[in-house]
Parts: sequence; structure tokens; C-alpha cells
Amino acid sequence: MLIDTFGRVATDLRVSLTDRCNLRCTYCMPEEGLQWLTKSDLLSDDEIIRLIDIAVGRLGITEVRFTGGEPLLRPGLVGIVARCAGLAPRPEISLTTNGIGLGRTAAALKEAGLDRVNVSLDTLRPAAFKTLTRRDRHADVLAGLRAAHEAGLTPVKINAVLMPGLNEDEAPDLLAWALEHGYELRFIEQMPLDAQHGWKRAGMITAGDILASLRTRFTLTDEGAEERGSAPAERWTVDGGPYRVGVIGSVTRPFCGACDRTRLTADGQVRNCLFAQEETDLRGALRSGASDDEIAGLWKTAMWGKKAGSGLDDPEFLQPDRPMSAIGG
Ligand code: GTP
Ligand code: 5AD
Ligand code: SF4
Repeated sequence: MLIDTFGRVATDLRVSLTDRCNLRCTYCMPEEGLQWLTKSDLLSDDEIIRLIDIAVGRLGITEVRFTGGEPLLRPGLVGIVARCAGLAPRPEISLTTNGIGLGRTAAALKEAGLDRVNVSLDTLRPAAFKTLTRRDRHADVLAGLRAAHEAGLTPVKINAVLMPGLNEDEAPDLLAWALEHGYELRFIEQMPLDAQHGWKRAGMITAGDILASLRTRFTLTDEGAEERGSAPAERWTVDGGPYRVGVIGSVTRPFCGACDRTRLTADGQVRNCLFAQEETDLRGALRSGASDDEIAGLWKTAMWGKKAGSGLDDPEFLQPDRPMSAIGG
């Protein structure tokens, strides 16, 4: 079991498969991209599966989410999903993606054993999409979303980040559109995890702002904390139901007390928190011949050291060195 000193148990593993991405979202990375990991830095498919096997077989992990960068850029993704689905006990398997290329791969991923996807889409306006992501790929994302829905990778969830002066007025339109298409929409507060260190609390659209904007067009009723469990998203029932909208308020409504996550970076480091300053090197252990028991022990120690919270409210808060795209969100 992956337990920490505050009694939280991690059952949800997020595995980053690559730090690369085909978009350049302004809240994530600079136009020129980043210093990417090299092939030998990356865990191989076999190494990834061995670590997930240890996690589900010995450490109590029941849910595995593949992330990036952009995980669809990992050549072996379908095979990794299929091997993950063959592990015992079989974990629930999900994917967080920007949706580009999902149009071509959704059916194969479903076939391989993927259960569901979360797709990032911040705007319904192609021009705003191009400004925000610095790439003209809006239509590809929409095609990816449709394919995911048709392939049964459901519920298809959409993650949207609102940025001042760009798409901050779009919350009600995004929700109306998501309801019409049967997608579950969640808004995410922008977090200080961008590679450029450009985040400012004052420039952030808060959960409160988002809810106020949605309430100009919809009636939202609170689902209550009980149903939220350890999920980052607080959910509201829209216009009496059955559909819902979520808000992930990492900054103004933190949920660290119920966190059930552990993370593995594409180069094989365990992070016990999105905002952790320290990492534990499992790749080095793997490559120097450590046994499954030894690796499980290192992972347990890494999680035991998890801090109470993100530290975002500390005056001395320091953004982690590793940016969001290399952590996997
Ligand atoms: P579901 O199980 O589908 O609800 O997934 P999820 O919302 O946990 O995953 P997703 O990858 O879609 O992440 C949505 C947003 O939540 C991203 O911005 C993540 O960075 C953020 N997020 C995920 N886990 C954590 C966490 O442990 N702490 C914080 N602060 N944010 C998180
Ligand atoms: N703050 C909040 N969310 C972010 N994402 C990427 N960078 C940030 C940030 N700095 C979102 C992406 C994606 C999810 C995994 O995280 O838009 O939906
Ligand atoms: Fe790529 Fe996601 Fe970063 Fe956008 S937020 S640049 S889609 S990794």
C-alpha cells in the first residue's frame, strides 16, 4: 500500500509517456518548445509495464492514467494500453490527451482496453484556439472528441482552462455545447506549473469567477462533498440534472487532504505530488537490476514523504523545476 504520514492512500497512478507535445498552450510551454528528453532518458515500454505491474500487483494501485506531454505521440501507446489491460488485477485505464490524432486511434485504443479519455479543449472558437495553443488544430480536436465518443471511451470528459482576455467569457457557451454533445465539462484553474514561470495569482480566472459566469445562464446545484471523494473536480448538477459540470479549483479550493495520486514521469521518477520538489529515481533502480521488492520499497518511501498540501498558499512557495508538460498534469 502507498500510504503517507497523513494517512492518505494512493490508489491512482498517473504515468507520463512523453514530455513532447504538438501544441504550445501559452499556460504550459513557450513557442519554441522545451529541452525534450532523449530516447534513452525515457522508460522503455517494458520498463513502464514492469513498474505498473509492481504498482497494481504489490502497491494497491487500481487506476492508471496515461498522460504526457501528449501521450498520443508515444509510438507504442496502443501496445502499452493492451499490456496494462492484461495485468492482474486489471486496473481501470484512462488517458488525458489534447485529442489530436484521437480520430485515428480511438477505436484501436478502445479495443486495446482503454476505458475512457479526458480531452483538453479550452475554446469553441478556432481563432482563439490558435492564439492559445499556437497551432491551427481546432478541427482535429473536435474530430478526436467525436471519435472517442463513438468508440465508447466514455464518459468523455473535457478539460478547459480559461485565460483572461482570450476565452474567459466562454464558460456558458462551452457548457451549452458540451451538454448538447454529451461530454462532461470541467473547468481548471490555471496553476503555476508553466515552463515560463509566468503564472500570477492576480491574473487567474478563479473557480468563483467560473461559477458566477455559468450561473448567468444555468442553475447549478451542489452535489455535496460526499460524492466528490478524492476527485479533483467539484461537480454541480446543471438545471436540475442529469448532466453535471465540474470545476477543478487547485488554487482557491484545494483538495490535497483527499489526494489519492502518485505519479511517474516519462523518465522514471516518482513524484508524490504535482507540486513536489523531490523525486525518487525508479529508472536508475530498474536499470541497475533492482528486484520488484526493492522497487516497491522505494516507491513506498517516496509516498511516505508526501507533504500535507501543495504549498501554494505559503509565502515561500516555489514552483517545481519540472513543468506541467513533463509531469503529466
Ligand atoms: P478523472 O478521474 O477523470 O476525474 O481525472 P482527473 O481530473 O484527475 O485527470 P485529468 O488528467 O483530466 O486532470 C485534470 C486537471 O486536474 C489537470 O489540470 C490536472 O493537472 C489536475 N490534477 C490532476 N490530479 C491533480 C492533483 O493531484 N492535484 C492537483 N492540484 N491537480 C490535479
Ligand atoms: N494550469 C492548469 N491546467 C493546466 N493544464 C496544462 N497546464 C496547466 C496549468 N498551468 C491542463 C491542460 C490539460 C490538463 C492535463 O492540464 O489543459 O487539460
Ligand atoms: Fe501540450 Fe497539454 Fe501543454 Fe497544451 S497543456 S502544450 S496540450 S502538454
